[in-house]
Amino acid sequence: MTFTDEIKRRRTFAIISHPDAGKTTLTEKLLLFGGAIHVAGAVKSNKIKKTATSDFMEIEKQRGISVATSVMGFEYDGYKVNILDTPGHQDFQEDTFRTLTAVDSCIIVIDAAKGVEAQTRKLMEVCRMRKTPVMVFVNKLDRPCNDPFDLLDEIEKELQIKVRPLSWPIGNGELFKGVFNIYENNLYLFQASKQTITEGVAISNINDKSVDEMIGDSAAATLREELETIEGVYPEFDVDSYLKAEVAPVFFGSALNNFGVRELLHCFLKIAPSPQPATTDKRQVNPEEEKFSGFVFKIHANMDPNHRNRIAFVKVCSGKFERNKNYHHVRLNKDLKFSSPTAFMADKKSIIDEAYPGDIVGIPDSGNFKISDSLTEGEVMNFKGIPSFSPELFRYIENDDPMKQKQLAKGIDQLMDEGVAQLFVHQFNNRKIIGTVGALQFEVIQYRLLHEYQAACRYEPIALYKACWIESDDEAELAEFKKRKVQYMAKDKDGRDVFLAESNYMLQMALEGFKHIKFHFTSEF
Ligand code: G4P
Repeated sequence: MTFTDEIKRRRTFAIISHPDAGKTTLTEKLLLFGGAIHVAGAVKSNKIKKTATSDFMEIEKQRGISVATSVMGFEYDGYKVNILDTPGHQDFQEDTFRTLTAVDSCIIVIDAAKGVEAQTRKLMEVCRMRKTPVMVFVNKLDRPCNDPFDLLDEIEKELQIKVRPLSWPIGNGELFKGVFNIYENNLYLFQASKQTITEGVAISNINDKSVDEMIGDSAAATLREELETIEGVYPEFDVDSYLKAEVAPVFFGSALNNFGVRELLHCFLKIAPSPQPATTDKRQVNPEEEKFSGFVFKIHANMDPNHRNRIAFVKVCSGKFERNKNYHHVRLNKDLKFSSPTAFMADKKSIIDEAYPGDIVGIPDSGNFKISDSLTEGEVMNFKGIPSFSPELFRYIENDDPMKQKQLAKGIDQLMDEGVAQLFVHQFNNRKIIGTVGALQFEVIQYRLLHEYQAACRYEPIALYKACWIESDDEAELAEFKKRKVQYMAKDKDGRDVFLAESNYMLQMALEGFKHIKFHFTSEF
């Protein structure tokens, strides 16, 4: 197989949803179809969401488990599929955003009874910003739900993207019989099964009498009528519009019962994008380029307290990654080679000799990497598009054990490199402020500092509304701003200026009063 063929056959994507819509179940079923696992339930995915907020030990244990399921790769029908897992809990949303920088497309799962929910809307915003092609899987059709046409309207409106159904449900709730495959124009009926895949019967002509026999006269008549309406209402499906993120193909089904999953998977493999070019601060990088390049989009701490090793997840953007070859760590301006890079196949992890664009390589790390680090064959360039979001929750972090000052500083540093939260140093009083997007992170940080770094910390309240990065071409105005707001200025980890607004009112006043200052709400500008 040529290098280009290897790239073309790769599909790297994430499944995203509001908690409980069925992301984990769908992931499992895709693995089941792909033959990567044989019985559903074999892969325990990221179930953080099921845990009570205060039960952080359980959360950490589960984060440990999720290392194994961070990337689930499998081979199916000549394709190499890489599913990137994302945490369900909304406090870990930033992890999800970062993972979305490493995928070429997304499948959004929606609960048919609940419709589009808050977190789905937010995730879709990120996809829209990045122009990531998305497919929608409307799940749980085995439960009573809204009319599918209404659901389509809701998705179009709420997710702000045109939709085009490519499969269609036959009934719902107790009367749910399966889905018609609009994309392949056939009907594939089989017995519901929660555990394994059963063989079905394919019917290619919707007017065939056997359709009436199998699903009943009335359901058959409704199906024919609805299919006609679809053809009348929706323009013909255009793959290019999907690839340009202008149209989202929609599939219906029940992941739990295996309905509609095959239809989704087959279409996905055929039309979803193979690895796409990536942007750096210098130029665009094409996957077909001969030289290897990639970036770290996620760092996962190993939960074993005896080994402070972490795994850095590197997305290969171009060229072939090889074991034991020297690569240039751009930020550190240092060459490194990796003797035990790992790949992830379903629920297993193994050392690999090479990886191609689209693949994710796990590199054991003892502190060399932080999120968004770039690796190349010598070229000095940094991959873009891994922003930190302006945090919304803040606390001062204080040392609670004078003997462990060093450990605390090191621990905080490393946790920030992992992207658990953001650290700001208040310029007025020199105190350290932790900023997060979710409340859970504070507990996670305290727990991990103690257990991994033997450092005790305590938090003290600070009333802040938002932290935003500021810059200006007008040096005088910037200096004036910093002088006037001296009590509200901080530096981020990279020494950049951050304005700490105590209230929305204060932020608005600053925006209006200083027209030449740019206020940024993500770290990448
Ligand atoms: P998530 O990862 O998006 O959070 O959702 P997950 O797959 O864990 O599914 C959430 C719940 O919805 C699970 O039930 C799961 O069994 C159920 N579910 C998923 N797909 C379907 C479907 O097609 N039909 C129906 N009726 N239910 C579905 P649970 O009771 O919360 O968990 P479990 O004990 O079954 O794992």
